[in-house]
Amino acid sequence: SAATEGSNAGRGLWSSRFAFILAATGSAVGLGNIWKFPYVTGENGGGAFVLVYLLCIAAIGLPIMMAEVLIGRRGGRSPVNSLKQIAKQQGINPSWRAVGAIGVIAGFLILSFYSVIGGWAVSYVGSAASGQFTGQSAEAIGELFSSLLADPMTLLMWHSLFMALVVLVVAKGVRAGLERAVSILMPALFLLLLAVVGFAMTTGEFGRAASFLFQPDFSKLTTAGVLVALGHAFFTLSLGMAVMMAYGSYLPKDISIAKTSIAVCIIDTGVALLAGLAIFPIVFANGLEPGAGPGLIFQTLPLAFGQMPMGSLFGTLFFILLIFAAWTSGISLLEPIVEWLEEQKGMNRTTSALGAGFVCWALGIASILSLNLWSGFAPLGWITMLEGKTIFDLLDFFTANIMLPLGGLLVAVFAGWIMSRKAMEEELALSKPMFNLWYVTVRFITPVAVGTVFVYNLVGA
Ligand code: PHE
Ligand code: NA
Repeated sequence: SAATEGSNAGRGLWSSRFAFILAATGSAVGLGNIWKFPYVTGENGGGAFVLVYLLCIAAIGLPIMMAEVLIGRRGGRSPVNSLKQIAKQQGINPSWRAVGAIGVIAGFLILSFYSVIGGWAVSYVGSAASGQFTGQSAEAIGELFSSLLADPMTLLMWHSLFMALVVLVVAKGVRAGLERAVSILMPALFLLLLAVVGFAMTTGEFGRAASFLFQPDFSKLTTAGVLVALGHAFFTLSLGMAVMMAYGSYLPKDISIAKTSIAVCIIDTGVALLAGLAIFPIVFANGLEPGAGPGLIFQTLPLAFGQMPMGSLFGTLFFILLIFAAWTSGISLLEPIVEWLEEQKGMNRTTSALGAGFVCWALGIASILSLNLWSGFAPLGWITMLEGKTIFDLLDFFTANIMLPLGGLLVAVFAGWIMSRKAMEEELALSKPMFNLWYVTVRFITPVAVGTVFVYNLVGA
């Protein structure tokens, strides 16, 4: 209980269950919740999209998270070797480790642009601290953001700084300290978000924002929007690239996989919804465009910080906390490739972290240029579905909407059709009806749902 944990502060508090939840929420809660969720919701018309996203979290994300954690704990090794190990024990094709390979590549591609956005947050710490938001109009705040995007050198500088932070922690293998910090910083971020929601309530548009978010209008939902909701569920929960598998290998046997996974899903979803409730009242109150795209929070939150009492302080703190949230997620994106280089190529940790980080950083330059010099360059624009998508958009699209759901689909098929049922009953230790519910979901519902969304989008293309 909380009381015994409190009196035990030190040892008891940092039980492995708690450590798992910290690492998993550290990975899950990040830019996906605060930057991406509001803008994809705005682009896809609100309520109906949010409903599909919530459905994807509960009916697809949660069961797959449980499957990943289960596979990790059962295999007890790094993701690639866990899959190989389980496959070998059961005499199955070891090429199942391809799931791990998708994860390694997806993490690498995601981090390249994730770090660029992390860099925006770094840049906004300075803007907030120097009072640049105070009393500004929506136009002035918009100007500030456009001039940041128009300046490749500044973007490069902050992207480099963010990437260096990630590489540093991965190279030194010192995650534990940062993860403990998460147990203080994440609640602090949550409180600050609540403060912004409190401010948002005074704008007079809170009701409109709430109905935008929670009153589904299905005429606004497109097939492509459903794919984005599905992909975002994977992205926000850090699923489909074996991150949760890696963490699961550290989870003690007597701890409930279902309960801990549910906790992570609830925290992650709570942060995203709070971000939505903080941002949309400001959008409507200032006559901004909900579908403004990736810049949405950087054009709205500064308005709130510019108008609320002690806004410079709150704004500075907020963007610092956002950097921490993004940092812990960034680490979990780089970790798989570094582990892979260590295991498969026999490289040491420092070299592989520096090497992988460097290549990722270099790839990030393409995303930076997509925001300015190459903003009109749509390399795959001849494909209807990818019309007008810059390199940055394409990286986001392929990783979140294709690679992660595909990775998750393979995890579901592996758990549902390959692993022995008995092993999974043992690991999950659920009541019979609950186990069956999970099992039917990973066996049938998840593969059919993901498959259907894919096929519909291909046909539409
Ligand atoms: N879940 C993280 C976020 O919401 C991003 C992430 C995706 C991290 C996949 C790891 C793996 O920001
Ligand atoms: Na998230």
